Amino acid sequence: MYRTHNCGALRIEDEGKEVTLSGWLQASRDFGGMTFIDLRDRYGITQLVFNTDDNDKLAEKAQKLGRESVIRVQGVVKERSNKNPNRPTGDIEIEVKSLDILNESKTPPFTIEDETDGGDDLRMKYRYLDIRRNPVKESLIFRSKLAIETRKHLSDQNFVEVETPVLIKSTPEGARDFVVPSRMNPGQFYALPQSPQTFKQILMVAGMDRYFQIVKCFRDEDLRADRQPEFTQIDCEMAFVTQEEILNTFEDLTKHLFKAMKGIDLPDFPRMEYDEALRLYGSDKPDLRFGMQFVELNDLAKGKGFGVFDSAELIVGICAEGQAEAYSNKDIKHLTEWMQRPQIGAKGLVYVKVNTDGTFKSSVGKFYDDETLKTWAEKFDAKPGDMLLILSGEAEKTRKQLNELRLEMGRKMGLMKEGDFKPLWVVDFPLLEWDEESERFHAMHHPFTSPKKADVDRMLNGDHETMKSLKADAYDLVINGSEIGGGSIRIHDRDLQSRNFDLLGFTKEEAQAQFGFLLGAFEYGAPPHGGIAFGFDRLCAVMNGQSSIRDYIAFPKNNQGRDMMIDAPSPIDQVQLDELKLDLQKEKV
Ligand code: AMO
Repeated sequence: MYRTHNCGALRIEDEGKEVTLSGWLQASRDFGGMTFIDLRDRYGITQLVFNTDDNDKLAEKAQKLGRESVIRVQGVVKERSNKNPNRPTGDIEIEVKSLDILNESKTPPFTIEDETDGGDDLRMKYRYLDIRRNPVKESLIFRSKLAIETRKHLSDQNFVEVETPVLIKSTPEGARDFVVPSRMNPGQFYALPQSPQTFKQILMVAGMDRYFQIVKCFRDEDLRADRQPEFTQIDCEMAFVTQEEILNTFEDLTKHLFKAMKGIDLPDFPRMEYDEALRLYGSDKPDLRFGMQFVELNDLAKGKGFGVFDSAELIVGICAEGQAEAYSNKDIKHLTEWMQRPQIGAKGLVYVKVNTDGTFKSSVGKFYDDETLKTWAEKFDAKPGDMLLILSGEAEKTRKQLNELRLEMGRKMGLMKEGDFKPLWVVDFPLLEWDEESERFHAMHHPFTSPKKADVDRMLNGDHETMKSLKADAYDLVINGSEIGGGSIRIHDRDLQSRNFDLLGFTKEEAQAQFGFLLGAFEYGAPPHGGIAFGFDRLCAVMNGQSSIRDYIAFPKNNQGRDMMIDAPSPIDQVQLDELKLDLQKEKV
Protein backbone atom coordinates (compact mmCIF):
# COMPACT_ATOMS: atom_id res chain seq x y z
CA MET A 1 0.00 0.00 0.00
CA TYR A 2 1.33 3.43 -0.90
CA ARG A 3 -0.70 5.43 1.58
CA THR A 4 -3.24 5.18 4.35
CA HIS A 5 -3.71 8.97 4.40
CA ASN A 6 -2.81 11.88 2.20
CA CYS A 7 -0.39 14.60 3.30
CA GLY A 8 -3.14 17.02 4.32
CA ALA A 9 -5.29 14.65 6.36
CA LEU A 10 -3.75 13.97 9.75
CA ARG A 11 -4.69 15.91 12.90
CA ILE A 12 -3.97 15.73 16.61
CA GLU A 13 -6.90 13.28 16.99
CA ASP A 14 -4.87 10.79 14.97
CA GLU A 15 -2.04 10.71 17.53
CA GLY A 16 -0.67 7.22 18.00
CA LYS A 17 -1.91 5.89 14.65
CA GLU A 18 0.38 3.85 12.46
CA VAL A 19 0.27 5.49 9.03
CA THR A 20 1.80 5.21 5.59
CA LEU A 21 2.26 8.37 3.51
CA SER A 22 3.65 8.98 0.03
CA GLY A 23 4.61 12.21 -1.62
CA TRP A 24 7.30 14.62 -2.75
CA LEU A 25 10.08 15.97 -0.60
CA GLN A 26 9.39 19.68 -0.27
CA ALA A 27 12.24 20.54 2.10
CA SER A 28 14.51 18.89 4.62
CA ARG A 29 16.32 20.26 7.66
CA ASP A 30 18.98 18.65 9.82
CA PHE A 31 19.30 19.55 13.48
CA GLY A 32 22.03 17.34 14.99
CA GLY A 33 20.31 14.12 15.95
CA MET A 34 17.07 15.00 14.14
CA THR A 35 16.19 15.26 10.47
CA PHE A 36 12.89 16.89 9.51
CA ILE A 37 11.30 16.44 6.11
CA ASP A 38 8.27 18.24 4.73
CA LEU A 39 6.35 15.71 2.66
CA ARG A 40 3.99 17.22 0.09
CA ASP A 41 1.17 16.00 -2.10
CA ARG A 42 -1.88 17.66 -3.66
CA TYR A 43 -3.63 17.80 -0.30
CA GLY A 44 -1.01 19.40 1.89
CA ILE A 45 2.27 19.02 3.73
CA THR A 46 3.04 16.75 6.65
CA GLN A 47 6.22 16.93 8.72
CA LEU A 48 8.27 13.77 9.03
CA VAL A 49 10.89 13.32 11.71
CA PHE A 50 13.85 10.94 11.66
CA ASN A 51 15.65 10.43 14.93
CA THR A 52 19.35 9.54 14.63
CA ASP A 53 19.48 7.99 18.09
CA ASP A 54 16.68 5.58 17.28
CA ASN A 55 17.72 4.62 13.79
CA ASP A 56 21.04 5.78 12.49
CA LYS A 57 20.78 4.27 9.00
CA LEU A 58 17.27 5.54 8.35
CA ALA A 59 18.22 9.09 9.30
CA GLU A 60 21.28 8.93 7.09
CA LYS A 61 19.17 7.77 4.16
CA ALA A 62 16.75 10.64 4.76
CA GLN A 63 19.54 13.19 4.92
CA LYS A 64 20.73 12.21 1.46
CA LEU A 65 17.39 12.77 -0.24
CA GLY A 66 17.15 15.64 -2.69
CA ARG A 67 14.22 17.98 -3.14
CA GLU A 68 11.26 16.58 -5.11
CA SER A 69 12.27 12.94 -4.53
CA VAL A 70 9.21 10.70 -4.32
CA ILE A 71 9.14 8.66 -1.13
CA ARG A 72 6.92 6.43 0.94
CA VAL A 73 7.21 6.42 4.71
CA GLN A 74 5.63 4.41 7.41
CA GLY A 75 5.51 5.64 10.98
CA VAL A 76 3.52 6.83 13.96
CA VAL A 77 1.58 10.10 14.37
CA LYS A 78 3.01 12.16 17.27
CA GLU A 79 2.07 15.49 18.76
CA ARG A 80 4.59 18.16 17.78
CA SER A 81 6.36 20.08 20.50
CA ASN A 82 6.88 23.00 18.12
CA LYS A 83 3.47 23.47 16.50
CA ASN A 84 2.88 25.28 13.21
CA PRO A 85 -0.48 27.11 13.35
CA ASN A 86 -0.22 28.02 9.66
CA ARG A 87 -0.63 24.45 8.51
CA PRO A 88 -3.72 22.25 8.97
CA THR A 89 -1.39 19.36 9.86
CA GLY A 90 0.78 21.65 12.00
CA ASP A 91 -0.02 20.01 15.35
CA ILE A 92 1.43 16.64 14.42
CA GLU A 93 4.42 14.96 12.84
CA ILE A 94 5.20 11.41 11.73
CA GLU A 95 7.95 9.61 13.57
CA VAL A 96 9.28 7.57 10.69
CA LYS A 97 10.00 3.83 11.08
CA SER A 98 10.68 2.98 7.45
CA LEU A 99 11.46 4.88 4.29
CA ASP A 100 11.25 3.79 0.63
CA ILE A 101 12.62 5.91 -2.14
CA LEU A 102 10.08 5.50 -4.94
CA ASN A 103 11.88 7.79 -7.34
CA GLU A 104 14.68 10.30 -7.10
CA SER A 105 14.50 13.72 -8.70
CA LYS A 106 16.96 15.97 -10.42
CA THR A 107 17.26 19.38 -8.78
CA PRO A 108 14.29 21.33 -10.15
CA PRO A 109 15.15 24.38 -12.31
CA PHE A 110 13.09 26.67 -10.07
CA THR A 111 11.81 26.59 -6.52
CA ILE A 112 8.53 24.78 -5.92
CA GLU A 113 7.21 27.49 -3.62
CA ASP A 114 4.20 29.81 -3.75
CA GLU A 115 6.55 32.60 -4.84
CA THR A 116 8.89 30.96 -7.29
CA ASP A 117 12.12 32.26 -8.82
CA GLY A 118 11.23 30.73 -12.20
CA GLY A 119 10.51 33.01 -15.19
CA ASP A 120 7.41 32.44 -17.33
CA ASP A 121 8.96 30.40 -20.13
CA LEU A 122 10.89 28.20 -17.70
CA ARG A 123 7.73 27.55 -15.70
CA MET A 124 5.88 26.62 -18.91
CA LYS A 125 8.68 24.34 -20.08
CA TYR A 126 8.55 22.45 -16.79
CA ARG A 127 4.82 22.91 -16.31
CA TYR A 128 4.57 19.58 -14.42
CA LEU A 129 6.80 21.14 -11.74
CA ASP A 130 4.95 24.43 -11.89
CA ILE A 131 1.62 22.68 -11.29
CA ARG A 132 3.08 21.24 -8.09
CA ARG A 133 3.11 24.82 -6.76
CA ASN A 134 0.08 25.81 -4.70
CA PRO A 135 -1.12 28.84 -6.71
CA VAL A 136 -1.18 26.94 -10.01
CA LYS A 137 -2.60 23.78 -8.48
CA GLU A 138 -5.33 25.77 -6.73
CA SER A 139 -6.17 27.59 -9.98
CA LEU A 140 -6.67 24.32 -11.82
CA ILE A 141 -8.81 22.90 -9.02
CA PHE A 142 -10.88 26.11 -9.06
CA ARG A 143 -11.37 25.72 -12.79
CA SER A 144 -12.51 22.14 -12.41
CA LYS A 145 -15.05 23.08 -9.73
CA LEU A 146 -16.30 26.05 -11.76
CA ALA A 147 -16.90 23.81 -14.78
CA ILE A 148 -18.81 21.30 -12.64
CA GLU A 149 -20.92 24.07 -11.04
CA THR A 150 -21.65 25.51 -14.49
CA ARG A 151 -22.77 22.14 -15.83
CA LYS A 152 -24.94 21.51 -12.78
CA HIS A 153 -26.64 24.91 -12.96
CA LEU A 154 -27.26 24.89 -16.71
CA SER A 155 -28.45 21.31 -16.64
CA ASP A 156 -30.90 22.26 -13.86
CA GLN A 157 -32.19 24.98 -16.19
CA ASN A 158 -32.88 22.38 -18.88
CA PHE A 159 -29.83 23.10 -21.03
CA VAL A 160 -28.47 20.13 -22.96
CA GLU A 161 -24.71 19.78 -23.45
CA VAL A 162 -23.99 18.94 -27.07
CA GLU A 163 -20.52 18.44 -28.51
CA THR A 164 -19.91 20.09 -31.85
CA PRO A 165 -17.12 19.14 -34.25
CA VAL A 166 -13.59 20.52 -34.13
CA LEU A 167 -12.72 19.89 -37.77
CA ILE A 168 -15.02 22.33 -39.48
CA LYS A 169 -15.23 25.12 -42.01
CA SER A 170 -14.20 28.69 -41.25
CA THR A 171 -16.41 30.47 -38.65
CA PRO A 172 -16.83 34.20 -38.81
CA GLU A 173 -15.69 35.48 -35.39
CA GLY A 174 -13.26 37.96 -36.86
CA ALA A 175 -9.89 36.38 -36.08
CA ARG A 176 -7.77 34.21 -38.38
CA ASP A 177 -8.47 30.50 -38.54
CA PHE A 178 -6.11 27.71 -37.62
CA VAL A 179 -6.35 25.23 -40.48
CA VAL A 180 -5.78 21.50 -40.80
CA PRO A 181 -4.92 19.95 -44.17
CA SER A 182 -7.06 17.03 -45.27
CA ARG A 183 -5.09 13.98 -46.49
CA MET A 184 -8.10 12.44 -48.15
CA ASN A 185 -8.99 15.65 -49.96
CA PRO A 186 -5.66 17.00 -51.21
CA GLY A 187 -5.49 20.77 -51.34
CA GLN A 188 -8.46 21.10 -49.00
CA PHE A 189 -8.46 22.21 -45.40
CA TYR A 190 -10.57 22.06 -42.31
CA ALA A 191 -10.65 25.11 -40.05
CA LEU A 192 -10.67 24.78 -36.27
CA PRO A 193 -13.71 26.54 -34.77
CA GLN A 194 -13.25 30.10 -33.55
CA SER A 195 -16.47 29.25 -31.74
CA PRO A 196 -19.31 26.76 -32.33
CA GLN A 197 -21.49 29.69 -33.49
CA THR A 198 -23.03 28.19 -36.62
CA PHE A 199 -23.51 24.75 -35.05
CA LYS A 200 -25.34 26.10 -32.04
CA GLN A 201 -27.68 28.03 -34.30
CA ILE A 202 -28.31 24.88 -36.31
CA LEU A 203 -29.07 23.05 -33.05
CA MET A 204 -31.83 25.61 -32.49
CA VAL A 205 -33.23 24.84 -35.94
CA ALA A 206 -32.98 21.20 -34.88
CA GLY A 207 -35.24 21.93 -31.93
CA MET A 208 -32.74 21.43 -29.08
CA ASP A 209 -34.15 24.63 -27.55
CA ARG A 210 -31.48 25.12 -24.87
CA TYR A 211 -27.91 24.18 -25.70
CA PHE A 212 -24.64 24.62 -23.86
CA GLN A 213 -21.12 23.36 -24.21
CA ILE A 214 -17.89 23.95 -22.34
CA VAL A 215 -15.79 24.00 -25.43
CA LYS A 216 -12.35 24.73 -26.83
CA CYS A 217 -12.17 27.54 -29.39
CA PHE A 218 -9.22 28.44 -31.57
CA ARG A 219 -8.25 31.89 -32.81
CA ASP A 220 -5.09 32.90 -34.58
CA GLU A 221 -4.77 36.44 -33.21
CA ASP A 222 -2.27 38.57 -31.31
CA LEU A 223 -1.86 37.20 -27.82
CA ARG A 224 -2.10 39.05 -24.54
CA ALA A 225 -2.43 38.23 -20.87
CA ASP A 226 -6.14 37.54 -21.31
CA ARG A 227 -5.96 35.92 -24.75
CA GLN A 228 -4.77 32.46 -25.72
CA PRO A 229 -4.85 30.91 -29.21
CA GLU A 230 -6.88 28.05 -27.79
CA PHE A 231 -9.24 28.95 -25.01
CA THR A 232 -12.50 27.70 -23.55
CA GLN A 233 -16.00 29.07 -23.75
CA ILE A 234 -19.18 28.34 -21.87
CA ASP A 235 -21.14 28.49 -25.10
CA CYS A 236 -24.93 28.75 -24.96
CA GLU A 237 -27.93 29.19 -27.23
CA MET A 238 -31.67 29.39 -26.57
CA ALA A 239 -34.74 29.33 -28.84
CA PHE A 240 -37.91 31.41 -28.47
CA VAL A 241 -36.23 34.01 -26.27
CA THR A 242 -35.91 37.75 -26.09
CA GLN A 243 -32.70 39.57 -25.20
CA GLU A 244 -34.21 40.25 -21.78
CA GLU A 245 -34.62 36.53 -21.05
CA ILE A 246 -31.08 35.78 -22.15
CA LEU A 247 -29.61 38.51 -19.97
CA ASN A 248 -31.61 37.28 -16.99
CA THR A 249 -30.68 33.64 -17.55
CA PHE A 250 -26.96 34.38 -17.69
CA GLU A 251 -27.04 36.96 -14.94
CA ASP A 252 -28.49 34.13 -12.82
CA LEU A 253 -25.71 31.78 -13.92
CA THR A 254 -23.07 34.36 -13.01
CA LYS A 255 -24.65 35.08 -9.63
CA HIS A 256 -24.92 31.38 -8.93
CA LEU A 257 -21.25 30.79 -9.77
CA PHE A 258 -20.07 33.66 -7.55
CA LYS A 259 -22.20 32.37 -4.69
CA ALA A 260 -21.19 28.73 -5.07
CA MET A 261 -17.48 29.37 -5.63
CA LYS A 262 -16.78 32.52 -3.60
CA GLY A 263 -19.73 32.84 -1.24
CA ILE A 264 -20.45 36.25 -2.76
CA ASP A 265 -23.97 37.59 -3.37
CA LEU A 266 -23.80 39.82 -6.42
CA PRO A 267 -26.47 42.52 -6.67
CA ASP A 268 -28.48 42.91 -9.90
CA PHE A 269 -26.21 43.87 -12.78
CA PRO A 270 -26.57 47.43 -14.05
CA ARG A 271 -26.96 47.93 -17.79
CA MET A 272 -25.28 50.57 -19.87
CA GLU A 273 -25.67 51.42 -23.51
CA TYR A 274 -22.56 51.04 -25.61
CA ASP A 275 -22.67 54.76 -26.57
CA GLU A 276 -22.87 55.79 -22.95
CA ALA A 277 -19.99 53.50 -21.97
CA LEU A 278 -17.82 55.19 -24.58
CA ARG A 279 -18.92 58.68 -23.58
CA LEU A 280 -18.41 58.16 -19.84
CA TYR A 281 -15.47 55.76 -19.82
CA GLY A 282 -13.97 55.71 -23.31
CA SER A 283 -14.34 51.93 -23.34
CA ASP A 284 -16.98 49.29 -24.06
CA LYS A 285 -15.75 47.41 -21.01
CA PRO A 286 -15.56 49.96 -18.22
CA ASP A 287 -14.18 48.97 -14.83
CA LEU A 288 -16.90 50.14 -12.46
CA ARG A 289 -14.98 49.48 -9.28
CA PHE A 290 -14.30 53.20 -9.29
CA GLY A 291 -15.83 56.40 -10.69
CA MET A 292 -13.72 59.00 -12.47
CA GLN A 293 -16.30 59.40 -15.22
CA PHE A 294 -15.31 61.53 -18.16
CA VAL A 295 -16.35 65.18 -18.15
CA GLU A 296 -16.42 67.15 -21.40
CA LEU A 297 -15.15 70.72 -21.42
CA ASN A 298 -15.70 71.94 -24.98
CA ASP A 299 -18.18 74.60 -23.89
CA LEU A 300 -15.97 75.96 -21.10
CA ALA A 301 -12.51 75.68 -22.61
CA LYS A 302 -12.80 76.79 -26.21
CA GLY A 303 -12.32 80.35 -27.44
CA LYS A 304 -9.94 81.54 -24.73
CA GLY A 305 -6.83 81.66 -26.88
CA PHE A 306 -5.37 78.22 -26.13
CA GLY A 307 -4.84 76.94 -29.68
CA VAL A 308 -4.57 73.26 -28.78
CA PHE A 309 -8.00 73.24 -27.18
CA ASP A 310 -9.51 75.62 -29.74
CA SER A 311 -8.67 73.29 -32.60
CA ALA A 312 -9.66 70.08 -30.77
CA GLU A 313 -12.78 68.12 -31.62
CA LEU A 314 -13.07 67.06 -27.98
CA ILE A 315 -11.70 68.35 -24.68
CA VAL A 316 -12.34 65.81 -21.98
CA GLY A 317 -10.95 64.94 -18.58
CA ILE A 318 -11.19 63.05 -15.32
CA CYS A 319 -10.98 64.19 -11.73
CA ALA A 320 -8.43 62.39 -9.56
CA GLU A 321 -9.77 62.85 -6.06
CA GLY A 322 -7.33 64.14 -3.46
CA GLN A 323 -4.33 63.91 -5.77
CA ALA A 324 -3.39 67.61 -6.07
CA GLU A 325 -0.76 67.46 -3.37
CA ALA A 326 0.35 63.92 -4.11
CA TYR A 327 1.55 64.88 -7.59
CA SER A 328 4.74 66.95 -7.90
CA ASN A 329 5.72 68.60 -11.19
CA LYS A 330 8.03 65.67 -11.74
CA ASP A 331 5.23 63.14 -11.19
CA ILE A 332 3.06 64.97 -13.69
CA LYS A 333 5.93 65.00 -16.17
CA HIS A 334 6.26 61.20 -15.77
CA LEU A 335 2.54 60.72 -16.21
CA THR A 336 2.61 62.90 -19.34
CA GLU A 337 5.49 60.86 -20.74
CA TRP A 338 3.59 57.67 -19.95
CA MET A 339 0.64 59.02 -21.94
CA GLN A 340 2.91 60.02 -24.81
CA ARG A 341 4.33 56.52 -25.32
CA PRO A 342 3.48 55.17 -28.78
CA GLN A 343 1.12 52.56 -27.21
CA ILE A 344 -1.14 55.44 -26.08
CA GLY A 345 -0.03 58.31 -28.29
CA ALA A 346 -1.40 61.33 -26.41
CA LYS A 347 0.12 64.62 -27.57
CA GLY A 348 0.10 66.13 -24.10
CA LEU A 349 -1.67 66.19 -20.77
CA VAL A 350 -3.18 69.24 -19.12
CA TYR A 351 -3.62 69.35 -15.35
CA VAL A 352 -5.54 71.64 -13.04
CA LYS A 353 -4.92 71.38 -9.32
CA VAL A 354 -7.72 72.66 -7.09
CA ASN A 355 -5.76 74.15 -4.21
CA THR A 356 -7.13 74.03 -0.68
CA ASP A 357 -7.17 77.86 -0.51
CA GLY A 358 -9.55 78.10 -3.46
CA THR A 359 -6.87 79.05 -6.03
CA PHE A 360 -5.81 76.90 -8.96
CA LYS A 361 -2.53 75.66 -10.34
CA SER A 362 -2.57 74.55 -13.93
CA SER A 363 -0.31 73.86 -16.89
CA VAL A 364 -2.63 76.12 -18.92
CA GLY A 365 -2.91 78.83 -16.24
CA LYS A 366 -1.78 81.56 -18.59
CA PHE A 367 -4.77 80.98 -20.90
CA TYR A 368 -7.43 80.52 -18.26
CA ASP A 369 -7.97 82.70 -15.19
CA ASP A 370 -9.10 81.28 -11.86
CA GLU A 371 -12.68 82.32 -12.58
CA THR A 372 -12.73 80.04 -15.64
CA LEU A 373 -10.89 77.21 -13.93
CA LYS A 374 -13.49 77.40 -11.18
CA THR A 375 -16.23 76.70 -13.73
CA TRP A 376 -14.26 73.66 -14.87
CA ALA A 377 -13.85 72.40 -11.30
CA GLU A 378 -17.58 72.82 -10.75
CA LYS A 379 -18.38 70.81 -13.86
CA PHE A 380 -16.15 68.00 -12.53
CA ASP A 381 -17.65 68.33 -9.06
CA ALA A 382 -14.07 68.73 -7.89
CA LYS A 383 -13.24 69.52 -4.29
CA PRO A 384 -10.20 71.33 -2.90
CA GLY A 385 -7.26 68.92 -3.09
CA ASP A 386 -8.47 67.26 -6.29
CA MET A 387 -6.61 67.26 -9.58
CA LEU A 388 -8.18 67.42 -13.04
CA LEU A 389 -6.39 65.62 -15.89
CA ILE A 390 -7.48 66.76 -19.33
CA LEU A 391 -6.82 65.57 -22.87
CA SER A 392 -7.89 66.96 -26.20
CA GLY A 393 -7.92 66.00 -29.87
CA GLU A 394 -9.95 63.87 -32.22
CA ALA A 395 -12.92 62.55 -30.22
CA GLU A 396 -12.64 58.78 -30.56
CA LYS A 397 -8.87 58.71 -30.11
CA THR A 398 -8.94 61.08 -27.16
CA ARG A 399 -11.56 58.99 -25.35
CA LYS A 400 -9.44 55.88 -25.83
CA GLN A 401 -6.40 57.65 -24.44
CA LEU A 402 -8.34 58.97 -21.46
CA ASN A 403 -9.59 55.44 -20.79
CA GLU A 404 -5.94 54.36 -20.41
CA LEU A 405 -5.25 57.29 -18.10
CA ARG A 406 -8.34 56.55 -16.02
CA LEU A 407 -7.28 52.92 -15.57
CA GLU A 408 -3.72 53.95 -14.72
CA MET A 409 -4.96 56.43 -12.11
CA GLY A 410 -7.31 53.77 -10.77
CA ARG A 411 -4.34 51.44 -10.35
CA LYS A 412 -2.08 54.10 -8.85
CA MET A 413 -4.75 55.27 -6.42
CA GLY A 414 -5.50 51.70 -5.32
CA LEU A 415 -9.11 51.86 -6.49
CA MET A 416 -9.22 48.40 -8.08
CA LYS A 417 -9.87 46.63 -4.83
CA GLU A 418 -9.36 42.90 -4.50
CA GLY A 419 -12.57 41.06 -3.69
CA ASP A 420 -14.69 43.86 -5.17
CA PHE A 421 -16.73 42.66 -8.17
CA LYS A 422 -18.58 45.07 -10.40
CA PRO A 423 -20.40 43.28 -13.22
CA LEU A 424 -22.40 45.09 -15.85
CA TRP A 425 -24.20 44.44 -19.10
CA VAL A 426 -23.14 46.62 -21.98
CA VAL A 427 -26.07 46.64 -24.43
CA ASP A 428 -27.13 48.18 -27.73
CA PHE A 429 -23.88 47.67 -29.61
CA PRO A 430 -23.75 49.04 -33.14
CA LEU A 431 -24.60 46.39 -35.72
CA LEU A 432 -21.88 47.39 -38.17
CA GLU A 433 -18.51 49.02 -37.92
CA TRP A 434 -17.16 51.06 -40.83
CA ASP A 435 -13.52 50.32 -41.56
CA GLU A 436 -11.84 53.31 -43.21
CA GLU A 437 -8.90 51.32 -44.48
CA SER A 438 -10.74 48.54 -46.31
CA GLU A 439 -13.73 50.85 -46.94
CA ARG A 440 -16.03 48.11 -45.79
CA PHE A 441 -18.49 47.38 -43.06
CA HIS A 442 -17.55 44.71 -40.54
CA ALA A 443 -19.99 42.99 -38.22
CA MET A 444 -19.34 44.38 -34.77
CA HIS A 445 -20.28 41.03 -33.19
CA HIS A 446 -20.72 38.53 -36.02
CA PRO A 447 -22.74 38.38 -39.26
CA PHE A 448 -25.68 36.52 -37.67
CA THR A 449 -26.43 39.24 -35.13
CA SER A 450 -29.86 40.81 -35.42
CA PRO A 451 -30.48 44.55 -35.65
CA LYS A 452 -32.87 45.92 -33.06
CA LYS A 453 -36.46 45.49 -34.16
CA ALA A 454 -36.85 49.27 -34.46
CA ASP A 455 -33.91 49.35 -36.89
CA VAL A 456 -34.98 46.55 -39.26
CA ASP A 457 -36.70 48.89 -41.72
CA ARG A 458 -33.81 51.31 -41.74
CA MET A 459 -31.47 48.40 -42.37
CA LEU A 460 -33.48 47.04 -45.28
CA ASN A 461 -34.12 50.41 -46.92
CA GLY A 462 -31.61 52.95 -45.57
CA ASP A 463 -28.61 54.54 -47.25
CA HIS A 464 -24.94 54.06 -46.45
CA GLU A 465 -24.85 56.64 -43.61
CA THR A 466 -27.92 55.09 -42.01
CA MET A 467 -26.10 51.77 -41.73
CA LYS A 468 -23.54 53.35 -39.40
CA SER A 469 -26.23 54.17 -36.86
CA LEU A 470 -27.97 50.77 -36.73
CA LYS A 471 -28.06 49.21 -33.29
CA ALA A 472 -27.99 45.48 -32.61
CA ASP A 473 -29.53 43.21 -30.04
CA ALA A 474 -26.00 42.47 -28.91
CA TYR A 475 -24.62 42.53 -25.38
CA ASP A 476 -21.44 41.94 -23.43
CA LEU A 477 -21.02 40.90 -19.83
CA VAL A 478 -18.21 42.94 -18.30
CA ILE A 479 -16.74 42.32 -14.86
CA ASN A 480 -14.11 44.68 -13.42
CA GLY A 481 -13.13 45.95 -16.85
CA SER A 482 -12.79 42.52 -18.42
CA GLU A 483 -15.05 41.30 -21.22
CA ILE A 484 -16.30 38.03 -19.79
CA GLY A 485 -18.97 37.21 -22.33
CA GLY A 486 -20.67 38.35 -25.48
CA GLY A 487 -23.74 37.36 -27.42
CA SER A 488 -26.72 38.46 -29.42
CA ILE A 489 -30.18 37.74 -30.73
CA ARG A 490 -29.66 36.16 -34.15
CA ILE A 491 -31.20 36.94 -37.48
CA HIS A 492 -33.57 34.10 -38.37
CA ASP A 493 -35.12 35.77 -41.37
CA ARG A 494 -33.68 34.92 -44.77
CA ASP A 495 -34.10 38.44 -46.30
CA LEU A 496 -32.53 40.21 -43.38
CA GLN A 497 -29.62 37.76 -43.40
CA SER A 498 -29.08 38.33 -47.14
CA ARG A 499 -29.13 42.09 -46.62
CA ASN A 500 -26.57 41.71 -43.83
CA PHE A 501 -24.24 39.65 -46.02
CA ASP A 502 -24.71 42.27 -48.71
CA LEU A 503 -23.69 45.07 -46.38
CA LEU A 504 -20.69 43.05 -45.22
CA GLY A 505 -19.51 42.84 -48.81
CA PHE A 506 -20.30 39.17 -49.54
CA THR A 507 -21.61 38.41 -53.01
CA LYS A 508 -24.55 35.97 -53.13
CA GLU A 509 -22.18 33.25 -54.32
CA GLU A 510 -19.65 33.92 -51.54
CA ALA A 511 -22.34 33.89 -48.87
CA GLN A 512 -23.71 30.67 -50.32
CA ALA A 513 -20.27 29.03 -50.45
CA GLN A 514 -19.37 29.97 -46.89
CA PHE A 515 -22.68 29.79 -45.06
CA GLY A 516 -24.94 27.88 -47.45
CA PHE A 517 -25.47 25.12 -44.87
CA LEU A 518 -26.82 27.63 -42.35
CA LEU A 519 -28.94 29.57 -44.83
CA GLY A 520 -30.28 26.25 -46.06
CA ALA A 521 -31.18 25.21 -42.51
CA PHE A 522 -32.96 28.52 -42.02
CA GLU A 523 -35.38 27.55 -44.78
CA TYR A 524 -36.72 24.65 -42.74
CA GLY A 525 -38.32 26.50 -39.88
CA ALA A 526 -35.69 28.37 -37.88
CA PRO A 527 -37.11 29.52 -34.55
CA PRO A 528 -36.24 32.97 -33.19
CA HIS A 529 -33.12 32.39 -31.13
CA GLY A 530 -30.16 33.98 -29.44
CA GLY A 531 -27.29 33.18 -27.12
CA ILE A 532 -24.07 34.09 -25.47
CA ALA A 533 -20.60 32.72 -24.83
CA PHE A 534 -18.56 33.32 -21.69
CA GLY A 535 -14.78 33.22 -21.83
CA PHE A 536 -14.31 30.43 -19.29
CA ASP A 537 -10.60 31.06 -18.68
CA ARG A 538 -11.30 34.76 -18.20
CA LEU A 539 -14.14 34.06 -15.81
CA CYS A 540 -11.78 31.91 -13.71
CA ALA A 541 -9.13 34.65 -13.65
CA VAL A 542 -11.49 37.55 -12.92
CA MET A 543 -13.25 35.65 -10.12
CA ASN A 544 -9.84 35.38 -8.50
CA GLY A 545 -8.70 38.93 -9.16
CA GLN A 546 -6.09 37.88 -11.74
CA SER A 547 -5.45 39.64 -15.02
CA SER A 548 -3.70 36.71 -16.69
CA ILE A 549 -5.59 33.59 -17.73
CA ARG A 550 -2.45 31.46 -18.05
CA ASP A 551 -2.52 29.81 -14.67
CA TYR A 552 -6.11 28.71 -15.18
CA ILE A 553 -5.00 26.73 -18.22
CA ALA A 554 -3.04 23.57 -17.46
CA PHE A 555 -0.75 23.81 -20.47
CA PRO A 556 -0.93 27.33 -21.92
CA LYS A 557 0.99 28.83 -24.82
CA ASN A 558 3.39 31.75 -24.51
CA ASN A 559 2.98 35.11 -26.25
CA GLN A 560 4.49 33.70 -29.42
CA GLY A 561 1.80 31.00 -29.44
CA ARG A 562 4.40 28.40 -28.50
CA ASP A 563 3.92 25.47 -26.15
CA MET A 564 7.29 25.52 -24.39
CA MET A 565 6.90 22.06 -22.91
CA ILE A 566 6.19 20.00 -25.99
CA ASP A 567 7.91 22.54 -28.25
CA ALA A 568 5.04 23.14 -30.63
CA PRO A 569 4.54 24.27 -33.30
CA SER A 570 7.33 22.30 -34.97
CA PRO A 571 8.26 21.19 -38.49
CA ILE A 572 6.75 17.93 -39.71
CA ASP A 573 8.69 15.40 -41.72
CA GLN A 574 8.68 15.12 -45.48
CA VAL A 575 6.68 11.87 -45.50
CA GLN A 576 3.82 13.60 -43.71
CA LEU A 577 4.05 16.60 -46.04
CA ASP A 578 3.99 14.32 -49.08
CA GLU A 579 0.97 12.44 -47.77
CA LEU A 580 -0.84 15.73 -47.30
CA LYS A 581 0.31 16.87 -50.74
CA LEU A 582 1.74 19.99 -49.15
CA ASP A 583 4.63 21.49 -51.03
CA LEU A 584 6.48 23.98 -48.88
CA GLN A 585 9.16 24.65 -51.51
CA LYS A 586 7.62 27.96 -52.49
CA GLU A 587 7.92 29.23 -48.95
CA LYS A 588 11.55 28.17 -48.64
CA VAL A 589 12.64 30.25 -51.66
P1 AMO B 1 -16.92 36.37 -28.59
O1 AMO B 1 -16.04 36.41 -29.77
O2 AMO B 1 -17.30 37.66 -27.94
O3 AMO B 1 -18.33 35.70 -28.94
O4 AMO B 1 -16.29 35.42 -27.50
C1 AMO B 1 -16.92 35.16 -26.28
C2 AMO B 1 -15.97 35.32 -25.12
O5 AMO B 1 -14.83 34.48 -25.27
C3 AMO B 1 -13.70 35.08 -24.63
N1 AMO B 1 -12.57 35.12 -25.58
C4 AMO B 1 -11.31 34.72 -25.30
N2 AMO B 1 -10.76 34.25 -24.19
C5 AMO B 1 -9.45 33.92 -24.21
N3 AMO B 1 -8.66 34.01 -25.29
C6 AMO B 1 -9.17 34.48 -26.47
N4 AMO B 1 -8.38 34.55 -27.55
C7 AMO B 1 -10.55 34.87 -26.50
N5 AMO B 1 -11.38 35.35 -27.46
C8 AMO B 1 -12.59 35.50 -26.89
C9 AMO B 1 -14.11 36.47 -24.18
C10 AMO B 1 -15.36 36.72 -25.01
O6 AMO B 1 -16.24 37.60 -24.39
N6 AMO B 1 -19.91 33.06 -30.87
C11 AMO B 1 -19.88 34.28 -30.08
C12 AMO B 1 -20.81 34.20 -28.90
C13 AMO B 1 -22.25 34.37 -29.25
O7 AMO B 1 -22.60 35.25 -30.05
O8 AMO B 1 -23.07 33.62 -28.63
C14 AMO B 1 -18.47 34.51 -29.59
O9 AMO B 1 -17.60 33.69 -29.71
O10 AMO B 1 -14.42 36.43 -22.81
